[in-house]
Amino acid sequence: MGLKWILLLLLSIVSNAPVCAQDNPSSDTLAARASNLLSYIAVDYGDAVEGGQRLDTPLYELQKQQVEEVLHLVTQLPDRPGRKGLQNSLLALSKLIDDKASATEVRRRANAIADRLAVLYQLQRSPGYSLPSPGFMMPVYQQRCAGCHGGAGEGGTAGPDLNNPERMAGFSLYDLYNTLDPVTDSIHSADIDGDLTGLQRWALAVTVASFPVANQLPPSSDLASKYPGLLGLPGMATTKPSELEAPLQQALMWWRGNPHLVRTLVPPLVRAVGLLQLAETDYRGGDTTGAYSKLMLAYREGYRPLRQQLLIRDRELVEQLQIQWQQLRGDLIGGASSTEVIAGLQNLRENLNLAHSKLEPPVVRERRYVWAAVLFALAIGLGALLWWGLRRRKRTKL
Ligand code: HEC
Repeated sequence: MGLKWILLLLLSIVSNAPVCAQDNPSSDTLAARASNLLSYIAVDYGDAVEGGQRLDTPLYELQKQQVEEVLHLVTQLPDRPGRKGLQNSLLALSKLIDDKASATEVRRRANAIADRLAVLYQLQRSPGYSLPSPGFMMPVYQQRCAGCHGGAGEGGTAGPDLNNPERMAGFSLYDLYNTLDPVTDSIHSADIDGDLTGLQRWALAVTVASFPVANQLPPSSDLASKYPGLLGLPGMATTKPSELEAPLQQALMWWRGNPHLVRTLVPPLVRAVGLLQLAETDYRGGDTTGAYSKLMLAYREGYRPLRQQLLIRDRELVEQLQIQWQQLRGDLIGGASSTEVIAGLQNLRENLNLAHSKLEPPVVRERRYVWAAVLFALAIGLGALLWWGLRRRKRTKL
């Protein structure tokens, strides 16, 4: 990270002070801003310190300030059981940075804190709709971003490269989206991204995510079937590739840069389960409308296309599922008790997982082959005995 960016970042922190001073910034805004800063700490620390030595003093000082700011933001968040633990973890992170600990240690700690923060404050880190192709926002990218970041994310004098796989692996898709939200990140002035809708920001995050994997071959379908959680939302949006092992890390980089091609690889019922999980997060956070729209999306895109197929395998389960969907819909609109709604969402997820396993191709057990071989040998033996007996009878008759 060059001095220019650091100055810009410093400026952004100064200009962000009003966010802290605002009378009543929503807890979503505070948590998203904290998450954004933590992602920068995780990604940039390796450029500031190496082998216990400072490589880049201004960046190092900036990171210390960023931890302070995160602490300040967390202090402003509503006090919930768990907030104290979060503050202690932040103090521990600050100590790690003071001690010039290794980049891996700092990155893991910062990422773990961001995850805990998201759970504690029900931060919405995944969109409620399918992600478009990277080409969808390419014209906007070329118009507004390429001047600083280069036409293919190769970087320029006024902006860093966005195609460096190692650095980009440190950001989740949500982190990229977050950098494009002027409320949580002020590196980009409002005339660059201030007017963009949520959908446009998510789509731009995908465009950016496609740069490091441009012209790369898709990962093996083996990986796709082993990790369905990373092929759909929310996993694809919230996971930082840097936290995964090597082949899976590259796979996630490719999948999130090509979500339009990945959609067909995700088993629809797995997608439905993921969406219901998101619906629960929305609901717990008080966003009933968001929960409702995800419930309907899960029904339309995950369950309905497979209903007929499932009907052939297990009619009773389909009938049960049908009742569960309807019940939940009614409960969400009608304002049933939260225990009922949450239990309903969980039961539905369990049944959808069951349905998914029913649609898997039947597993042929090896034991069956053994039995078939034994029966076959018995039949041959029996045949031979009969044949031998017949021949003897014939002979004795002769
Ligand atoms: C005026 C120049 C400029 C424009 C225009 C611009 N950016 Fe940036 N962008 C920056 C700077 C500077 C940074 C901060 C780099 C840092 O701190 O590491 C940045 C950071 C980012 C990051 C975080 C990645 C990282 O390595 O820190 C993303 C993602 C990003 N920009 C995407 C975009 C997108 C998408 C657009 C268009 C909507 C855009 N930028 C427009 C200058 C610009």
